[in-house]
Amino acid sequence: MKGFLNKLPEQAIRVIVVFLVLAAGVFVIRQFIIPPEMKEPTLQKLSSMEREADKEVKYAGAQACGPCHEKQHDIKKTGYHRDLSCESCHGAAQKHADNPTDVKPTSPQKRDYCSYCHTYNSSRPTGFPQINPDTHNPRKPCITCHDPHNPKPPQTPRSCTACHAQIERTKAASYHALLGCTVCHSTPEKHKLSPRTVTPTKPDTREFCGKCHDKASPGKGVPAVDMNAHGEKYVCWQCHYPHMLGGI
Ligand code: HEC
Ligand code: HEC
Ligand code: HEC
Ligand code: HEC
Ligand code: HEC
Ligand code: HEC
Ligand code: HEC
Ligand code: HEC
Repeated sequence: MKGFLNKLPEQAIRVIVVFLVLAAGVFVIRQFIIPPEMKEPTLQKLSSMEREADKEVKYAGAQACGPCHEKQHDIKKTGYHRDLSCESCHGAAQKHADNPTDVKPTSPQKRDYCSYCHTYNSSRPTGFPQINPDTHNPRKPCITCHDPHNPKPPQTPRSCTACHAQIERTKAASYHALLGCTVCHSTPEKHKLSPRTVTPTKPDTREFCGKCHDKASPGKGVPAVDMNAHGEKYVCWQCHYPHMLGGI
Protein backbone atom coordinates (compact mmCIF):
# COMPACT_ATOMS: atom_id res chain seq x y z
CA MET A 1 0.00 0.00 0.00
CA LYS A 2 2.80 2.38 1.01
CA GLY A 3 4.69 1.55 -2.13
CA PHE A 4 1.58 2.17 -4.19
CA LEU A 5 1.01 5.56 -2.59
CA ASN A 6 4.63 6.51 -3.12
CA LYS A 7 4.26 5.77 -6.80
CA LEU A 8 1.34 8.19 -7.21
CA PRO A 9 2.10 11.79 -8.11
CA GLU A 10 1.59 14.25 -5.29
CA GLN A 11 -1.36 15.91 -7.06
CA ALA A 12 -3.30 12.65 -7.24
CA ILE A 13 -2.91 12.17 -3.50
CA ARG A 14 -4.28 15.65 -2.90
CA VAL A 15 -7.25 14.90 -5.10
CA ILE A 16 -7.92 11.68 -3.21
CA VAL A 17 -7.68 13.45 0.14
CA VAL A 18 -10.05 16.19 -0.98
CA PHE A 19 -12.45 13.55 -2.26
CA LEU A 20 -12.34 11.60 1.00
CA VAL A 21 -12.95 14.76 3.04
CA LEU A 22 -15.90 15.69 0.83
CA ALA A 23 -17.37 12.19 1.04
CA ALA A 24 -17.02 12.22 4.83
CA GLY A 25 -18.67 15.68 4.89
CA VAL A 26 -21.60 14.53 2.79
CA PHE A 27 -22.02 11.46 4.98
CA VAL A 28 -22.03 13.51 8.19
CA ILE A 29 -24.46 16.08 6.77
CA ARG A 30 -26.89 13.43 5.48
CA GLN A 31 -26.69 11.31 8.57
CA PHE A 32 -26.68 13.85 11.39
CA ILE A 33 -27.57 17.34 10.13
CA ILE A 34 -30.46 16.97 7.65
CA PRO A 35 -33.58 16.30 9.75
CA PRO A 36 -35.27 12.95 9.03
CA GLU A 37 -38.48 14.55 7.65
CA MET A 38 -36.48 16.02 4.80
CA LYS A 39 -35.47 12.53 3.70
CA GLU A 40 -38.69 10.61 4.36
CA PRO A 41 -41.74 11.57 2.21
CA THR A 42 -44.22 10.28 4.81
CA LEU A 43 -42.61 12.24 7.63
CA GLN A 44 -42.44 15.21 5.31
CA LYS A 45 -46.19 15.06 4.66
CA LEU A 46 -46.98 14.73 8.35
CA SER A 47 -44.83 17.64 9.40
CA SER A 48 -46.20 19.98 6.73
CA MET A 49 -49.74 19.04 7.72
CA GLU A 50 -48.91 19.87 11.32
CA ARG A 51 -47.30 23.14 10.28
CA GLU A 52 -50.37 24.20 8.25
CA ALA A 53 -52.78 23.11 10.99
CA ASP A 54 -50.84 25.17 13.53
CA LYS A 55 -51.33 28.36 11.52
CA GLU A 56 -53.78 30.80 12.96
CA VAL A 57 -57.19 30.75 11.20
CA LYS A 58 -57.79 34.30 10.07
CA TYR A 59 -60.85 34.14 7.84
CA ALA A 60 -64.12 32.94 9.28
CA GLY A 61 -65.59 32.17 5.85
CA ALA A 62 -68.64 33.30 3.91
CA GLN A 63 -71.16 31.44 6.07
CA ALA A 64 -69.94 32.64 9.47
CA CYS A 65 -71.38 36.15 9.66
CA GLY A 66 -75.03 35.55 8.76
CA PRO A 67 -76.28 34.08 12.05
CA CYS A 68 -75.24 37.15 14.07
CA HIS A 69 -75.73 39.79 11.36
CA GLU A 70 -79.01 38.80 9.85
CA LYS A 71 -79.84 42.30 8.66
CA GLN A 72 -76.69 42.80 6.57
CA HIS A 73 -76.79 39.20 5.39
CA ASP A 74 -80.37 39.52 4.17
CA ILE A 75 -80.03 42.78 2.28
CA LYS A 76 -76.75 41.75 0.69
CA LYS A 77 -78.27 38.48 -0.50
CA THR A 78 -80.44 40.10 -3.15
CA GLY A 79 -78.34 43.19 -3.94
CA TYR A 80 -75.65 43.86 -6.53
CA HIS A 81 -72.93 42.81 -4.08
CA ARG A 82 -74.40 39.38 -3.46
CA ASP A 83 -71.30 37.66 -4.85
CA LEU A 84 -68.89 39.52 -2.57
CA SER A 85 -68.05 37.86 0.72
CA CYS A 86 -68.34 39.91 3.90
CA GLU A 87 -64.67 39.53 4.61
CA SER A 88 -63.60 40.83 1.22
CA CYS A 89 -64.63 44.24 2.56
CA HIS A 90 -64.33 43.84 6.31
CA GLY A 91 -61.05 41.93 6.31
CA ALA A 92 -60.19 38.71 8.07
CA ALA A 93 -62.67 38.40 10.95
CA GLN A 94 -62.22 35.05 12.67
CA LYS A 95 -61.02 36.82 15.82
CA HIS A 96 -64.17 38.92 15.78
CA ALA A 97 -66.42 35.90 15.28
CA ASP A 98 -64.75 34.25 18.29
CA ASN A 99 -64.95 37.34 20.43
CA PRO A 100 -67.41 39.85 18.97
CA THR A 101 -67.46 42.34 21.81
CA ASP A 102 -63.70 42.86 22.17
CA VAL A 103 -62.54 42.59 18.56
CA LYS A 104 -64.22 44.73 15.91
CA PRO A 105 -63.55 44.32 12.18
CA THR A 106 -62.69 47.34 10.08
CA SER A 107 -65.18 48.84 7.63
CA PRO A 108 -63.80 50.38 4.43
CA GLN A 109 -65.32 53.85 4.39
CA LYS A 110 -62.95 55.61 2.01
CA ARG A 111 -63.59 56.16 -1.70
CA ASP A 112 -60.36 54.39 -2.66
CA TYR A 113 -61.74 51.08 -1.54
CA CYS A 114 -64.80 51.08 -3.77
CA SER A 115 -62.77 52.56 -6.60
CA TYR A 116 -60.51 49.54 -6.49
CA CYS A 117 -63.24 47.56 -8.28
CA HIS A 118 -65.29 50.34 -9.89
CA THR A 119 -62.76 52.67 -11.52
CA TYR A 120 -63.07 52.60 -15.31
CA ASN A 121 -60.73 50.03 -16.80
CA SER A 122 -61.13 48.83 -20.35
CA SER A 123 -60.23 45.27 -19.39
CA ARG A 124 -63.28 44.84 -17.19
CA PRO A 125 -66.14 42.81 -18.71
CA THR A 126 -68.76 44.58 -20.75
CA GLY A 127 -71.62 45.74 -18.56
CA PHE A 128 -69.59 45.93 -15.33
CA PRO A 129 -70.62 49.15 -13.56
CA GLN A 130 -67.72 51.57 -13.72
CA ILE A 131 -67.20 55.19 -12.88
CA ASN A 132 -64.50 57.81 -13.08
CA PRO A 133 -63.83 58.63 -9.40
CA ASP A 134 -62.50 62.08 -10.33
CA THR A 135 -65.81 63.17 -11.81
CA HIS A 136 -68.38 60.89 -10.17
CA ASN A 137 -69.62 62.94 -7.20
CA PRO A 138 -66.08 63.68 -6.02
CA ARG A 139 -64.96 64.18 -2.42
CA LYS A 140 -67.98 62.58 -0.72
CA PRO A 141 -67.49 59.00 0.51
CA CYS A 142 -69.30 56.57 -1.78
CA ILE A 143 -71.33 55.23 1.13
CA THR A 144 -73.14 58.55 1.63
CA CYS A 145 -75.15 57.67 -1.48
CA HIS A 146 -74.70 53.91 -1.91
CA ASP A 147 -75.44 51.37 0.81
CA PRO A 148 -72.36 49.10 0.68
CA HIS A 149 -74.52 46.05 1.41
CA ASN A 150 -77.01 46.87 -1.32
CA PRO A 151 -75.38 49.43 -3.59
CA LYS A 152 -78.38 50.36 -5.68
CA PRO A 153 -77.70 53.64 -7.46
CA PRO A 154 -80.06 56.28 -6.01
CA GLN A 155 -81.49 56.65 -9.50
CA THR A 156 -81.38 54.56 -12.66
CA PRO A 157 -78.25 55.34 -14.68
CA ARG A 158 -79.21 57.64 -17.53
CA SER A 159 -76.57 56.81 -20.08
CA CYS A 160 -75.24 53.63 -21.59
CA THR A 161 -71.72 54.82 -20.64
CA ALA A 162 -72.41 53.95 -17.00
CA CYS A 163 -71.96 50.29 -17.80
CA HIS A 164 -70.59 50.24 -21.35
CA ALA A 165 -67.84 52.83 -21.00
CA GLN A 166 -65.41 50.96 -23.19
CA ILE A 167 -67.80 50.71 -26.14
CA GLU A 168 -68.78 54.37 -25.75
CA ARG A 169 -65.10 55.37 -25.86
CA THR A 170 -64.19 53.37 -28.94
CA LYS A 171 -67.34 54.47 -30.73
CA ALA A 172 -66.57 58.13 -29.96
CA ALA A 173 -63.46 57.84 -32.12
CA SER A 174 -65.14 55.99 -35.00
CA TYR A 175 -67.05 57.00 -38.13
CA HIS A 176 -70.24 56.32 -36.21
CA ALA A 177 -69.41 58.79 -33.44
CA LEU A 178 -72.57 60.73 -34.18
CA LEU A 179 -74.92 57.73 -34.15
CA GLY A 180 -76.53 57.14 -30.77
CA CYS A 181 -76.41 53.62 -29.37
CA THR A 182 -80.15 53.28 -29.72
CA VAL A 183 -80.01 53.78 -33.50
CA CYS A 184 -78.71 50.23 -33.67
CA HIS A 185 -79.97 48.78 -30.37
CA SER A 186 -83.55 49.35 -29.28
CA THR A 187 -83.14 49.36 -25.55
CA PRO A 188 -86.00 48.86 -23.15
CA GLU A 189 -85.71 51.15 -20.13
CA LYS A 190 -85.76 48.01 -17.93
CA HIS A 191 -82.35 46.97 -19.34
CA LYS A 192 -80.75 49.57 -17.07
CA LEU A 193 -82.35 48.00 -14.01
CA SER A 194 -81.98 44.32 -14.83
CA PRO A 195 -79.38 44.29 -17.58
CA ARG A 196 -79.00 40.56 -17.80
CA THR A 197 -82.67 39.66 -17.88
CA VAL A 198 -83.86 42.40 -20.24
CA THR A 199 -81.47 42.79 -23.15
CA PRO A 200 -81.53 45.27 -26.05
CA THR A 201 -81.78 44.14 -29.65
CA LYS A 202 -78.72 43.79 -31.86
CA PRO A 203 -78.62 44.22 -35.63
CA ASP A 204 -78.84 40.78 -37.18
CA THR A 205 -78.98 41.27 -40.94
CA ARG A 206 -76.94 42.97 -43.67
CA GLU A 207 -80.04 44.93 -44.59
CA PHE A 208 -79.87 46.73 -41.25
CA CYS A 209 -76.66 48.49 -42.27
CA GLY A 210 -78.01 48.78 -45.80
CA LYS A 211 -80.67 51.18 -44.51
CA CYS A 212 -77.97 53.86 -44.61
CA HIS A 213 -75.24 52.32 -46.77
CA ASP A 214 -77.07 50.81 -49.76
CA LYS A 215 -75.85 52.28 -53.05
CA ALA A 216 -79.38 51.90 -54.41
CA SER A 217 -80.78 54.39 -51.89
CA PRO A 218 -77.86 56.11 -50.19
CA GLY A 219 -78.42 58.46 -47.30
CA LYS A 220 -77.17 61.98 -47.63
CA GLY A 221 -73.37 62.12 -47.27
CA VAL A 222 -73.13 58.49 -46.27
CA PRO A 223 -70.53 56.31 -48.03
CA ALA A 224 -72.41 53.65 -49.98
CA VAL A 225 -71.67 50.13 -51.22
CA ASP A 226 -73.25 47.73 -53.65
CA MET A 227 -75.18 45.54 -51.22
CA ASN A 228 -75.33 42.61 -53.63
CA ALA A 229 -71.59 42.38 -54.17
CA HIS A 230 -69.84 44.03 -51.25
CA GLY A 231 -68.68 41.59 -48.57
CA GLU A 232 -70.44 38.72 -50.31
CA LYS A 233 -72.93 36.96 -48.02
CA TYR A 234 -71.22 37.81 -44.73
CA VAL A 235 -72.78 40.06 -42.14
CA CYS A 236 -71.13 43.47 -42.22
CA TRP A 237 -69.67 43.31 -38.71
CA GLN A 238 -67.63 40.27 -39.57
CA CYS A 239 -65.30 42.78 -41.24
CA HIS A 240 -66.34 46.14 -39.76
CA TYR A 241 -66.32 46.03 -35.97
CA PRO A 242 -69.46 48.09 -35.40
CA HIS A 243 -68.12 50.20 -32.51
CA MET A 244 -64.70 50.84 -33.93
CA LEU A 245 -65.00 51.79 -37.56
CA GLY A 246 -61.94 53.12 -39.30
CA GLY A 247 -59.00 51.09 -40.50
CA ILE A 248 -60.73 49.28 -43.32
C1 HEC B 1 -71.10 35.40 17.38
C2 HEC B 1 -71.80 36.47 16.73
C3 HEC B 1 -71.03 37.23 15.64
C4 HEC B 1 -70.43 36.71 14.54
C5 HEC B 1 -70.28 35.25 14.14
C6 HEC B 1 -69.98 37.85 13.76
N1 HEC B 1 -70.29 39.03 14.40
FE1 HEC B 1 -69.88 40.90 13.76
N2 HEC B 1 -70.62 41.69 15.47
C7 HEC B 1 -71.18 40.95 16.51
C8 HEC B 1 -71.50 41.84 17.61
C9 HEC B 1 -72.16 41.43 18.91
C10 HEC B 1 -71.09 43.13 17.19
C11 HEC B 1 -71.14 44.39 18.00
C12 HEC B 1 -72.37 45.16 17.77
C13 HEC B 1 -72.28 46.46 18.52
O1 HEC B 1 -71.51 46.54 19.50
O2 HEC B 1 -72.92 47.37 18.08
C14 HEC B 1 -70.55 43.00 15.86
C15 HEC B 1 -70.10 44.07 15.08
C16 HEC B 1 -69.65 43.95 13.78
C17 HEC B 1 -69.28 45.05 12.92
C18 HEC B 1 -69.35 46.52 13.29
C19 HEC B 1 -68.05 46.94 13.93
C20 HEC B 1 -68.12 48.34 14.47
O3 HEC B 1 -67.04 48.96 14.54
O4 HEC B 1 -69.19 48.79 14.85
C21 HEC B 1 -68.90 44.54 11.73
C22 HEC B 1 -68.41 45.29 10.51
C23 HEC B 1 -69.02 43.10 11.82
N3 HEC B 1 -69.49 42.78 13.09
C24 HEC B 1 -68.72 42.22 10.80
C25 HEC B 1 -68.75 40.84 10.94
C26 HEC B 1 -68.32 39.93 9.90
C27 HEC B 1 -67.78 40.34 8.54
C28 HEC B 1 -68.51 38.68 10.39
C29 HEC B 1 -68.23 37.36 9.69
C30 HEC B 1 -66.84 37.06 9.40
C31 HEC B 1 -69.05 38.79 11.72
N4 HEC B 1 -69.19 40.12 12.01
C32 HEC B 1 -69.36 37.72 12.53
C33 HEC B 1 -71.40 39.58 16.50
C34 HEC B 1 -70.93 38.69 15.57
C1 HEC C 1 -68.72 46.17 -0.51
C2 HEC C 1 -68.13 46.05 0.78
C3 HEC C 1 -68.91 45.40 1.90
C4 HEC C 1 -69.42 44.11 1.96
C5 HEC C 1 -69.38 43.04 0.88
C6 HEC C 1 -69.99 43.97 3.27
N1 HEC C 1 -69.86 45.13 3.98
FE1 HEC C 1 -70.48 45.47 5.89
N2 HEC C 1 -69.96 47.42 5.73
C7 HEC C 1 -69.27 47.99 4.67
C8 HEC C 1 -69.03 49.39 4.93
C9 HEC C 1 -68.34 50.37 4.01
C10 HEC C 1 -69.61 49.66 6.20
C11 HEC C 1 -69.66 51.00 6.94
C12 HEC C 1 -71.01 51.64 6.69
C13 HEC C 1 -71.12 52.97 7.37
O1 HEC C 1 -70.22 53.35 8.13
O2 HEC C 1 -72.15 53.63 7.12
C14 HEC C 1 -70.16 48.40 6.68
C15 HEC C 1 -70.81 48.24 7.91
C16 HEC C 1 -71.15 47.01 8.46
C17 HEC C 1 -71.67 46.81 9.81
C18 HEC C 1 -71.92 47.89 10.84
C19 HEC C 1 -73.40 48.25 10.92
C20 HEC C 1 -73.91 48.88 9.65
O3 HEC C 1 -74.77 48.26 8.98
O4 HEC C 1 -73.44 49.96 9.28
C21 HEC C 1 -71.89 45.46 9.96
C22 HEC C 1 -72.43 44.76 11.17
C23 HEC C 1 -71.51 44.82 8.70
N3 HEC C 1 -71.08 45.79 7.81
C24 HEC C 1 -71.59 43.48 8.44
C25 HEC C 1 -71.45 42.91 7.20
C26 HEC C 1 -71.78 41.52 6.90
C27 HEC C 1 -72.28 40.52 7.89
C28 HEC C 1 -71.52 41.33 5.57
C29 HEC C 1 -71.77 40.08 4.75
C30 HEC C 1 -73.13 39.58 4.77
C31 HEC C 1 -71.01 42.60 5.05
N4 HEC C 1 -71.00 43.52 6.05
C32 HEC C 1 -70.59 42.80 3.72
C33 HEC C 1 -68.85 47.33 3.51
C34 HEC C 1 -69.20 46.03 3.17
C1 HEC D 1 -64.36 43.30 -4.81
C2 HEC D 1 -64.95 44.17 -5.80
C3 HEC D 1 -65.96 45.21 -5.37
C4 HEC D 1 -65.82 46.16 -4.39
C5 HEC D 1 -64.64 46.38 -3.44
C6 HEC D 1 -67.00 46.98 -4.47
N1 HEC D 1 -67.84 46.53 -5.44
FE1 HEC D 1 -69.56 47.42 -6.06
N2 HEC D 1 -69.93 45.88 -7.36
C7 HEC D 1 -69.10 44.78 -7.50
C8 HEC D 1 -69.79 43.79 -8.31
C9 HEC D 1 -69.25 42.43 -8.69
C10 HEC D 1 -71.05 44.36 -8.66
C11 HEC D 1 -72.17 43.71 -9.48
C12 HEC D 1 -71.94 43.91 -10.95
C13 HEC D 1 -72.96 43.22 -11.80
O1 HEC D 1 -74.09 43.01 -11.36
O2 HEC D 1 -72.59 42.92 -12.94
C14 HEC D 1 -71.10 45.68 -8.05
C15 HEC D 1 -72.16 46.57 -8.18
C16 HEC D 1 -72.16 47.85 -7.64
C17 HEC D 1 -73.14 48.88 -7.93
C18 HEC D 1 -74.36 48.69 -8.82
C19 HEC D 1 -74.28 49.51 -10.08
C20 HEC D 1 -75.35 49.18 -11.08
O3 HEC D 1 -76.30 49.94 -11.19
O4 HEC D 1 -75.21 48.17 -11.76
C21 HEC D 1 -72.81 49.99 -7.19
C22 HEC D 1 -73.54 51.33 -7.14
C23 HEC D 1 -71.63 49.65 -6.43
N3 HEC D 1 -71.25 48.35 -6.72
C24 HEC D 1 -71.03 50.49 -5.51
C25 HEC D 1 -69.98 50.10 -4.68
C26 HEC D 1 -69.53 50.84 -3.52
C27 HEC D 1 -70.14 52.14 -3.04
C28 HEC D 1 -68.47 50.16 -3.00
C29 HEC D 1 -67.65 50.50 -1.75
C30 HEC D 1 -68.37 50.43 -0.49
C31 HEC D 1 -68.24 48.99 -3.82
N4 HEC D 1 -69.20 48.98 -4.82
C32 HEC D 1 -67.21 48.08 -3.64
C33 HEC D 1 -67.83 44.63 -7.00
C34 HEC D 1 -67.25 45.42 -6.01
C1 HEC E 1 -73.58 62.24 -4.08
C2 HEC E 1 -74.02 60.87 -4.20
C3 HEC E 1 -73.04 59.84 -4.79
C4 HEC E 1 -71.75 59.56 -4.37
C5 HEC E 1 -70.93 60.22 -3.29
C6 HEC E 1 -71.32 58.44 -5.19
N1 HEC E 1 -72.31 58.08 -6.08
FE1 HEC E 1 -72.28 56.52 -7.36
N2 HEC E 1 -74.08 57.08 -8.14
C7 HEC E 1 -74.85 58.12 -7.68
C8 HEC E 1 -76.03 58.25 -8.57
C9 HEC E 1 -77.13 59.30 -8.42
C10 HEC E 1 -75.93 57.24 -9.55
C11 HEC E 1 -76.88 56.92 -10.72
C12 HEC E 1 -76.99 58.01 -11.75
C13 HEC E 1 -75.75 58.17 -12.60
O1 HEC E 1 -75.55 57.41 -13.53
O2 HEC E 1 -74.98 59.11 -12.33
C14 HEC E 1 -74.69 56.53 -9.24
C15 HEC E 1 -74.23 55.45 -9.98
C16 HEC E 1 -73.13 54.68 -9.64
C17 HEC E 1 -72.71 53.46 -10.32
C18 HEC E 1 -73.42 52.82 -11.50
C19 HEC E 1 -72.84 53.29 -12.79
C20 HEC E 1 -73.26 54.69 -13.15
O3 HEC E 1 -72.37 55.53 -13.51
O4 HEC E 1 -74.46 54.96 -13.19
C21 HEC E 1 -71.57 53.02 -9.69
C22 HEC E 1 -70.77 51.78 -10.02
C23 HEC E 1 -71.27 53.95 -8.64
N3 HEC E 1 -72.22 54.94 -8.63
C24 HEC E 1 -70.20 53.80 -7.78
C25 HEC E 1 -69.79 54.81 -6.92
C26 HEC E 1 -68.50 54.81 -6.23
C27 HEC E 1 -67.47 53.70 -6.34
C28 HEC E 1 -68.45 55.95 -5.50
C29 HEC E 1 -67.29 56.44 -4.66
C30 HEC E 1 -65.99 56.52 -5.35
C31 HEC E 1 -69.71 56.66 -5.71
N4 HEC E 1 -70.48 55.95 -6.58
C32 HEC E 1 -70.07 57.85 -5.09
C33 HEC E 1 -74.59 58.90 -6.58
C34 HEC E 1 -73.39 58.91 -5.87
C1 HEC F 1 -76.84 49.26 -15.33
C2 HEC F 1 -75.84 48.91 -16.30
C3 HEC F 1 -76.20 48.98 -17.78
C4 HEC F 1 -76.70 50.05 -18.47
C5 HEC F 1 -77.04 51.43 -17.94
C6 HEC F 1 -76.79 49.63 -19.86
N1 HEC F 1 -76.37 48.33 -19.99
FE1 HEC F 1 -76.33 47.23 -21.68
N2 HEC F 1 -75.67 45.59 -20.65
C7 HEC F 1 -75.39 45.59 -19.30
C8 HEC F 1 -74.98 44.24 -18.91
C9 HEC F 1 -74.57 43.81 -17.51
C10 HEC F 1 -75.06 43.45 -20.08
C11 HEC F 1 -74.80 41.96 -20.22
C12 HEC F 1 -73.38 41.74 -20.60
C13 HEC F 1 -73.10 40.28 -20.75
O1 HEC F 1 -74.01 39.44 -20.61
O2 HEC F 1 -71.93 40.01 -21.05
C14 HEC F 1 -75.50 44.33 -21.16
C15 HEC F 1 -75.69 43.93 -22.47
C16 HEC F 1 -75.99 44.80 -23.53
C17 HEC F 1 -76.08 44.41 -24.92
C18 HEC F 1 -75.83 43.02 -25.50
C19 HEC F 1 -77.07 42.20 -25.42
C20 HEC F 1 -76.80 40.82 -25.96
O3 HEC F 1 -77.81 40.13 -26.21
O4 HEC F 1 -75.62 40.44 -26.14
C21 HEC F 1 -76.38 45.54 -25.63
C22 HEC F 1 -76.58 45.62 -27.14
C23 HEC F 1 -76.49 46.63 -24.68
N3 HEC F 1 -76.26 46.13 -23.42
C24 HEC F 1 -76.79 47.93 -25.03
C25 HEC F 1 -77.03 48.94 -24.12
C26 HEC F 1 -77.45 50.26 -24.49
C27 HEC F 1 -77.67 50.73 -25.92
C28 HEC F 1 -77.58 50.99 -23.33
C29 HEC F 1 -78.04 52.43 -23.17
C30 HEC F 1 -79.31 52.79 -23.80
C31 HEC F 1 -77.24 50.10 -22.24
N4 HEC F 1 -76.92 48.87 -22.75
C32 HEC F 1 -77.24 50.44 -20.88
C33 HEC F 1 -75.48 46.65 -18.43
C34 HEC F 1 -76.00 47.89 -18.74
C1 HEC G 1 -73.95 51.24 -36.23
C2 HEC G 1 -74.67 50.41 -35.34
C3 HEC G 1 -74.22 50.33 -33.90
C4 HEC G 1 -74.11 51.34 -33.01
C5 HEC G 1 -74.25 52.84 -33.24
C6 HEC G 1 -73.81 50.73 -31.72
N1 HEC G 1 -73.75 49.37 -31.87
FE1 HEC G 1 -73.51 47.99 -30.38
N2 HEC G 1 -73.51 46.49 -31.76
C7 HEC G 1 -73.75 46.66 -33.10
C8 HEC G 1 -73.71 45.36 -33.76
C9 HEC G 1 -73.88 45.11 -35.25
C10 HEC G 1 -73.45 44.42 -32.73
C11 HEC G 1 -73.39 42.90 -32.89
C12 HEC G 1 -72.01 42.40 -33.09
C13 HEC G 1 -72.02 40.90 -33.11
O1 HEC G 1 -73.09 40.28 -33.03
O2 HEC G 1 -70.91 40.39 -33.14
C14 HEC G 1 -73.34 45.16 -31.49
C15 HEC G 1 -73.09 44.57 -30.25
C16 HEC G 1 -73.14 45.26 -29.04
C17 HEC G 1 -72.96 44.66 -27.73
C18 HEC G 1 -72.70 43.21 -27.46
C19 HEC G 1 -71.28 42.96 -27.01
C20 HEC G 1 -70.22 43.35 -28.00
O3 HEC G 1 -69.27 44.08 -27.59
O4 HEC G 1 -70.27 42.95 -29.17
C21 HEC G 1 -73.06 45.68 -26.81
C22 HEC G 1 -72.93 45.55 -25.31
C23 HEC G 1 -73.30 46.90 -27.55
N3 HEC G 1 -73.32 46.61 -28.89
C24 HEC G 1 -73.45 48.13 -26.96
C25 HEC G 1 -73.47 49.33 -27.66
C26 HEC G 1 -73.42 50.64 -27.04
C27 HEC G 1 -73.37 50.88 -25.54
C28 HEC G 1 -73.44 51.55 -28.03
C29 HEC G 1 -73.33 53.07 -27.90
C30 HEC G 1 -72.13 53.56 -27.23
C31 HEC G 1 -73.53 50.83 -29.29
N4 HEC G 1 -73.53 49.49 -29.01
C32 HEC G 1 -73.61 51.42 -30.54
C33 HEC G 1 -74.02 47.84 -33.77
C34 HEC G 1 -73.99 49.09 -33.19
C1 HEC H 1 -78.34 55.61 -39.34
C2 HEC H 1 -77.49 55.43 -40.48
C3 HEC H 1 -76.36 54.42 -40.36
C4 HEC H 1 -76.47 53.07 -40.06
C5 HEC H 1 -77.71 52.30 -39.63
C6 HEC H 1 -75.15 52.52 -40.21
N1 HEC H 1 -74.27 53.50 -40.60
FE1 HEC H 1 -72.31 53.23 -41.10
N2 HEC H 1 -72.09 55.23 -41.38
C7 HEC H 1 -73.11 56.16 -41.29
C8 HEC H 1 -72.56 57.48 -41.57
C9 HEC H 1 -73.35 58.79 -41.55
C10 HEC H 1 -71.18 57.29 -41.86
C11 HEC H 1 -70.16 58.31 -42.29
C12 HEC H 1 -69.67 59.19 -41.20
C13 HEC H 1 -68.58 60.11 -41.70
O1 HEC H 1 -68.04 59.89 -42.79
O2 HEC H 1 -68.31 61.03 -40.97
C14 HEC H 1 -70.93 55.88 -41.71
C15 HEC H 1 -69.68 55.29 -41.92
C16 HEC H 1 -69.47 53.93 -42.02
C17 HEC H 1 -68.25 53.29 -42.43
C18 HEC H 1 -66.98 53.98 -42.79
C19 HEC H 1 -66.92 54.20 -44.29
C20 HEC H 1 -65.61 54.84 -44.73
O3 HEC H 1 -65.69 55.94 -45.25
O4 HEC H 1 -64.59 54.17 -44.58
C21 HEC H 1 -68.44 51.94 -42.38
C22 HEC H 1 -67.45 50.85 -42.73
C23 HEC H 1 -69.80 51.73 -41.91
N3 HEC H 1 -70.39 52.95 -41.70
C24 HEC H 1 -70.34 50.48 -41.66
C25 HEC H 1 -71.59 50.28 -41.08
C26 HEC H 1 -72.09 49.01 -40.64
C27 HEC H 1 -71.30 47.71 -40.70
C28 HEC H 1 -73.36 49.20 -40.20
C29 HEC H 1 -74.30 48.17 -39.61
C30 HEC H 1 -73.89 47.59 -38.34
C31 HEC H 1 -73.65 50.61 -40.35
N4 HEC H 1 -72.55 51.23 -40.87
C32 HEC H 1 -74.86 51.19 -40.01
C33 HEC H 1 -74.44 55.91 -41.03
C34 HEC H 1 -74.96 54.67 -40.70
C1 HEC I 1 -65.56 40.38 -46.21
C2 HEC I 1 -65.34 41.61 -45.48
C3 HEC I 1 -66.39 42.72 -45.60
C4 HEC I 1 -67.73 42.60 -45.36
C5 HEC I 1 -68.54 41.36 -44.99
C6 HEC I 1 -68.28 43.93 -45.52
N1 HEC I 1 -67.28 44.81 -45.83
FE1 HEC I 1 -67.48 46.80 -46.08
N2 HEC I 1 -65.53 46.97 -46.62
C7 HEC I 1 -64.61 45.94 -46.57
C8 HEC I 1 -63.32 46.44 -47.03
C9 HEC I 1 -62.04 45.61 -47.10
C10 HEC I 1 -63.50 47.81 -47.34
C11 HEC I 1 -62.47 48.79 -47.87
C12 HEC I 1 -62.12 48.52 -49.31
C13 HEC I 1 -63.28 48.79 -50.24
O1 HEC I 1 -63.67 49.95 -50.37
O2 HEC I 1 -63.78 47.82 -50.86
C14 HEC I 1 -64.89 48.10 -47.06
C15 HEC I 1 -65.47 49.35 -47.25
C16 HEC I 1 -66.75 49.69 -46.85
C17 HEC I 1 -67.34 51.01 -46.90
C18 HEC I 1 -66.65 52.25 -47.38
C19 HEC I 1 -66.89 52.42 -48.85
C20 HEC I 1 -66.37 53.76 -49.36
O3 HEC I 1 -66.74 54.09 -50.48
O4 HEC I 1 -65.62 54.44 -48.64
C21 HEC I 1 -68.61 50.94 -46.42
C22 HEC I 1 -69.64 52.06 -46.28
C23 HEC I 1 -68.84 49.56 -46.09
N3 HEC I 1 -67.69 48.82 -46.37
C24 HEC I 1 -70.04 49.07 -45.59
C25 HEC I 1 -70.31 47.72 -45.46
C26 HEC I 1 -71.64 47.21 -45.19
C27 HEC I 1 -72.91 48.07 -45.01
C28 HEC I 1 -71.52 45.86 -45.15
C29 HEC I 1 -72.65 44.84 -44.96
C30 HEC I 1 -73.73 44.93 -45.93
C31 HEC I 1 -70.13 45.52 -45.37
N4 HEC I 1 -69.42 46.67 -45.56
C32 HEC I 1 -69.62 44.24 -45.38
C33 HEC I 1 -64.86 44.64 -46.15
C34 HEC I 1 -66.11 44.11 -45.89
